[in-house]
Amino acid sequence: MTEQLWNHGVKKLKPYIPGKSIEDVKKELGLTEIIRMASNENPYGPSPKAIAAAGEALMQTHLYPEPSNRELRGKLGELHKVDPDRILISNGADNVLLIIGQAFVNPGDEVVYCSPTFPVYRTSTVMMGGVPVEVPLTADHKFDLEAMLNHVTPKTKLIYICNPNNPTGTVVDSNQLRSFLQRVPKHVVVVLDEAYAEFISIEQYKSGIDYMNEGFPVISVRTFSKLYGLAAARVGYAIAPAELLQPMLAVREPFPVTRASDAAARAALEDVEYTNFILAENLKGMKFLSAELAKFGYETVESYANFIFVDTKEDVQPLYDGVMKEGFIIRPCTSFGYPHHFRLTIGTHEQNERFIAALHKVKAGKTTTI
Ligand SMILES: Cc1ncc(COP(=O)(O)O)c(C=O)c1O
Repeated sequence: MTEQLWNHGVKKLKPYIPGKSIEDVKKELGLTEIIRMASNENPYGPSPKAIAAAGEALMQTHLYPEPSNRELRGKLGELHKVDPDRILISNGADNVLLIIGQAFVNPGDEVVYCSPTFPVYRTSTVMMGGVPVEVPLTADHKFDLEAMLNHVTPKTKLIYICNPNNPTGTVVDSNQLRSFLQRVPKHVVVVLDEAYAEFISIEQYKSGIDYMNEGFPVISVRTFSKLYGLAAARVGYAIAPAELLQPMLAVREPFPVTRASDAAARAALEDVEYTNFILAENLKGMKFLSAELAKFGYETVESYANFIFVDTKEDVQPLYDGVMKEGFIIRPCTSFGYPHHFRLTIGTHEQNERFIAALHKVKAGKTTTI
């Protein structure tokens, strides 16, 4: 009976099944230390300057936040060389993606993206009565720009490109992206989810923001959860031309980001030395893990993010269970349609070494019995 009361779009949603929480695993297995390499968090945490700034801002928690995040937008505008009025801040990129659905998708509108990818594109589409059009990734696990273009119809409203893609870590070629953007019909809005874009280590790589600055009508979605290590602070943003930002601003809630989170994000942007350190460590960790994982006969896909997509060539579940008993949470990719793969977040050097040691133990059949 009560289901009859539900919104039609909500009825079609599959509930989000999050990865296991550190707290749950500790309790379940009676372990005191758990290292999560499953959620693409920054293993070093945020800049100490961001923590200090958040602490100070907490003193003003009785006051509503400044609603337009003017200062933070100013800093982001400088960083990306865009007018701060082209920036919308909200509580995480997740929320920005929901705002995009609310702002653009009418019942029956088609939304094209490749699959497997980040599941929120589907959620934000279905919630609004839109129709997700899922196109397979290319054989080398990249977003298939040509195939997406071939699926555009008069009903298409949005195209999402996850770049780098979660869970594969792959990027689209930036010249191919330009050619694609030139050919997208005018009635379609292209959204580039660039949650991991800061990790792309290709010289001269052009992002959605570069293309927006050149006049292409694209929305770039970004987050402070990854490079800046502020996942719990929940700060994400969109950069878009004025006419695309306008409906998004209309549906954004008035105070989506707390004072502490806004202050942390501003301080994090200033600590360039810290983010350079994170980027360098991530690259080192990526190299180390790829080389070590290859010794198990596993295949990895070249990744431009802070995680790596690993093909174990066998059912991944026993490995997932095994490393968990050793205190590591990884992300099996079965729910993404890859029963042999797992996604591994790059840890600190010590975490990476310990993970490889745990994997050796599991593969040798010497796992801890609980
Ligand atoms: C591709 C992608 N987009 C968006 C998000 C959401 O980020 P946020 O923590 O800012 O909500 C994630 C989080 O993992 C992601 O992987």
